[in-house]
Amino acid sequence: MRDLAGRVAVVTGAASGIGRGLACRFGAEQMNVVIADVERAALDETARLVRAAAPAVDLLVQPTDVSDGEQVERLAAATYERFGAAHILCNNAGVFQGGLLWQRSDADWDWVLGVNLYGIIHGIRSFIPRMLDKAEDGHVVNTASMAGLVTSAYSGPYSVSKFAAVALSESLAHDLRAAGASIGVSVLCPSAVKTRIAESSRNRLTPVATETEAPDAHFVEQALRDLASGGLDPAVVAGMVVDAIRTEQFYVPTSTTYDEQVRSRFDDMVARRLPRTVRYD
Ligand SMILES: NC(=O)c1ccc[n+]([C@@H]2O[C@H](COP(=O)([O-])OP(=O)(O)OC[C@H]3O[C@@H](n4cnc5c(N)ncnc54)[C@H](O)[C@@H]3O)[C@@H](O)[C@H]2O)c1
Repeated sequence: MRDLAGRVAVVTGAASGIGRGLACRFGAEQMNVVIADVERAALDETARLVRAAAPAVDLLVQPTDVSDGEQVERLAAATYERFGAAHILCNNAGVFQGGLLWQRSDADWDWVLGVNLYGIIHGIRSFIPRMLDKAEDGHVVNTASMAGLVTSAYSGPYSVSKFAAVALSESLAHDLRAAGASIGVSVLCPSAVKTRIAESSRNRLTPVATETEAPDAHFVEQALRDLASGGLDPAVVAGMVVDAIRTEQFYVPTSTTYDEQVRSRFDDMVARRLPRTVRYD
């Protein structure tokens, strides 16, 4: 999809970080923008930023919990009611849960898979049939992670959700091709990006284990905070996404170490060894 101006972009997780960067960039491209998130005040701040940067674009602010299929269905209905179309769908909302696998509760798994995996499943189910009905060009961007390609200790639920997001994205691209649709797919696989991902639990509805119950989860969160603080600016990542949409690039890594990490993973697999752990540099 080369021509973006005047078209409609939908971004989930738009109240912060990469999602906010994407919303601002789509606005700057003179697209109409639909922004969705669970954090209402921060979502309003994204709306203010988009309007300040692109006063001419039309904006729809739709509070949405992507782990709830009915809310995502309402997001799609509101988008089509307002704009009659969606051309770019960014299933970007995501949360991080760290810690040792055997200490993770069902609530931890439900939360991470609910947002990171079911959020994308819901987006696909509510938007793709409407996009197919309109038979216009389109593009879906799912946010995974380098943790969706290479694993590490202390990140089991997150990594499982992100490997699933990668498989889902590849499957979606194959399905759309099989259906003869003119809808492209990209999977964003960021390394470290300067966002609030390490403070994901700010939006968690179920209680978070205390530091004494799950000290492992808390020290991983601190490590992630240190990593993210030295990461890329979300605006730079948004630029990579727009380039990928324009050039139909499927994998969208943000780090130059991507090639080496992916190659070494497959070398290890062919050699029947446990692959080396992920790096976010
Ligand atoms: N920051 C990084 O270093 C990094 C690296 C790899 C992948 N990612 C991925 O990037 C995506 C964006 O995260 P970010 O880094 O910008 O973090 P962030 O915390 O700054 O932004 C994530 C947004 O998702 C929203 N969100 C959380 N639960 C939600 C729900 N149930 N429904 C709707 N919105 C919800 C949050 O309110 C927040 O606004 C995530 O999928 C994350 O896993 C980030």
